[in-house]
Amino acid sequence: MWGTAASSTQTEGAGPRSTWAAFEAAGRVPPSGDGNGFATRYREDFAQLASLGLAHHRLSLDWSRLEPDAGKHDPAAVEHYREMLRAGRDAGLSMWVCLHHFTLPGWFADDEGGFLDPGARRYYWARHVDWVAETFGDLVDGWKPINEPVAYAFGGWLAGEIPPGERDLGRFGLALESVLLANHDAWRLLASGDQPVATIHNLSPIEPATRTGDERERGAAAESAKLFDEVIWSTWTRFLRDGVLAVPGRAEIEVPEAAESFDLIGFSYYGALAVYADLTTGPYPTDQPAGPVGFAAWPEGLGITLRRLAHDLPGRPLLIAECGLGLPAADDDDRQRVEYLDECLGVTEDAIADGVDVRGFFAWTSVDNYEWSLGDTANFGIIGRDRTPKPSAELLGRWATGAR
Ligand code: BGC
Repeated sequence: MWGTAASSTQTEGAGPRSTWAAFEAAGRVPPSGDGNGFATRYREDFAQLASLGLAHHRLSLDWSRLEPDAGKHDPAAVEHYREMLRAGRDAGLSMWVCLHHFTLPGWFADDEGGFLDPGARRYYWARHVDWVAETFGDLVDGWKPINEPVAYAFGGWLAGEIPPGERDLGRFGLALESVLLANHDAWRLLASGDQPVATIHNLSPIEPATRTGDERERGAAAESAKLFDEVIWSTWTRFLRDGVLAVPGRAEIEVPEAAESFDLIGFSYYGALAVYADLTTGPYPTDQPAGPVGFAAWPEGLGITLRRLAHDLPGRPLLIAECGLGLPAADDDDRQRVEYLDECLGVTEDAIADGVDVRGFFAWTSVDNYEWSLGDTANFGIIGRDRTPKPSAELLGRWATGAR
């Protein structure tokens, strides 16, 4: 499967009743405006993606636009998203739908307690998942219910970068556990349909590092790295392999049916993490410059990630659900993206040759868009905001059509 991935807030702008809109109003992040104009330009975008030879696209349906008040759906928003999915299909694309990409309706997150409230999660979230499947299922080719549960919990409850913008280790543990359970709930509800259901977990090789080369510091860095490894890797791989959810600092929860859940183990890859003794992180390799979101361009890390995942979840089909290179919008030298994507695809090909079962590659992202707290200052697109395809779009098309 060859395709691209994007999200609603980033391409259409924040839903007016969403937690992200409230974050913007509070001055915590730059305004998202109309994203990249996708809400009105989706037909031309889909046509362009299809003409490159790509056959898949993932988008997210903004819950806050669909259900701005609890229990009251907006028919215009429903029609808008049905039209959008239909247009993707008409252009020849298989449409993958994500139900939660970092933002929520204010009423669910703030008034009802969001995912962290077990009652709200089991009632409102489950009701939403069921309703989306019922309302849009005939136009959907695959589900990717929650984008990056670990990154979301980290950004929302530890780094303060995603609503609710907290910095609280205890709440982070609860959030991580709750969001992984919400992802499981969604799988359980969607698995009875005909479409495949994939995860999207953010993954990075984790490397202990020191700033001084001091041996004692190296030992402490290895301990810190273990903690990051547990959160980024084992917490969810163990859940999906053994049916045991063990978030560090919290009691274990047994959910036997989680073992072997999900049809595809999808993940996003942006780079590796150096972890220091004081629990801070930085780009890895440490001697390489970091891009705008803090990662160094390191294609080898994708190969390491694929092989480890094949080892940790044996026999499960893998999907590269997001892979891309962020460059400053003011200096978007796409030759770097061409080189990076080409190398990432090369290491993927090597992994496949060694028996790793990789089913697809979704580039992040189609058209340059709103990069969360960085606003419009970072580009990840293979197509510019003015809809000019970059050389990286042609590169991906060549790989997709076997013509490289
Ligand atoms: C997120 C995207 C984001 C990308 C680049 C991913 O982790 O899913 O929303 O734009 O990273 O930072």
